Amino acid sequence: MTSCFPATRTAGTGRPKEGDVKGIIFNLLEQFCCARLGEPAYDRLVDGLDGLAHDPRLMIAPGTYADEDFLLLVQAVARGLAVDDAELLREFGRFALARLAERYPDFFTPFRHPRDFFRFVGMVHHVEVSKLYQGATVPRFACQEAEDGALLLSYRSERRLCPFVEGLIAGVGRHYGTGIECRHERCMNAGATACEFRLRFPSDAPPAHEGGAAVP
Ligand code: HEM
Repeated sequence: MTSCFPATRTAGTGRPKEGDVKGIIFNLLEQFCCARLGEPAYDRLVDGLDGLAHDPRLMIAPGTYADEDFLLLVQAVARGLAVDDAELLREFGRFALARLAERYPDFFTPFRHPRDFFRFVGMVHHVEVSKLYQGATVPRFACQEAEDGALLLSYRSERRLCPFVEGLIAGVGRHYGTGIECRHERCMNAGATACEFRLRFPSDAPPAHEGGAAVP
């Protein structure tokens, strides 16, 4: 399934929902943009952007800033890189995961496999992120084992940033060196109450000569 990108957030009131995203996410987006576009181009992009409530270059990690600023920046950076908004969020997710793993290694090292990490990711946000970043409006994650051995990861958030989740999932696969096949089977942007991702770990598959498959 191709995820769409929620161009404007209305929170059911018709008005943009503001004041939500923690500065760390903006800081990571800035690092991503500077790495991809270069700092002078990022400065020009921000200076030329109308409608930002805050200058992202002055945002601090624990601060809380408008959701709408995040969406404006994502759209502008996507234009700058000539990709669509969803693809930008996927690339940003892969980048952000690597930076989060550098910054918070203790959330990753207890686990040897992404399957175990994903079982913990709801708790990371609900408990640890909420402690570290007061006033965070954290996304909700839950895991379920599928009968076929896949892991079903559900994501709920008013922000509906599912392409960002896809990128973060890919980043987790890269971090643990397993790779992850991810199918986005239900989507909040298509009316579902939660997004659902079916995750498989290619490195779990037995080699072709094991597991009963006939080898010529
Ligand atoms: C363990 C390392 C991680 C840390 C420390 C972390 C931390 C955070 C923080 C601080 C925020 C901002 C919350 C806010 O603005 O109120 C956030 C947002 C988010 N995180 Fe994580 N995160 C981690 C891993 C992940 C992973 C692996 C995923 C996906 C599977 C994920 C998905 C998201 C999403 C989608 C958001 C955007 C906010 C939303 O959708 O409502 N995070 N995270």
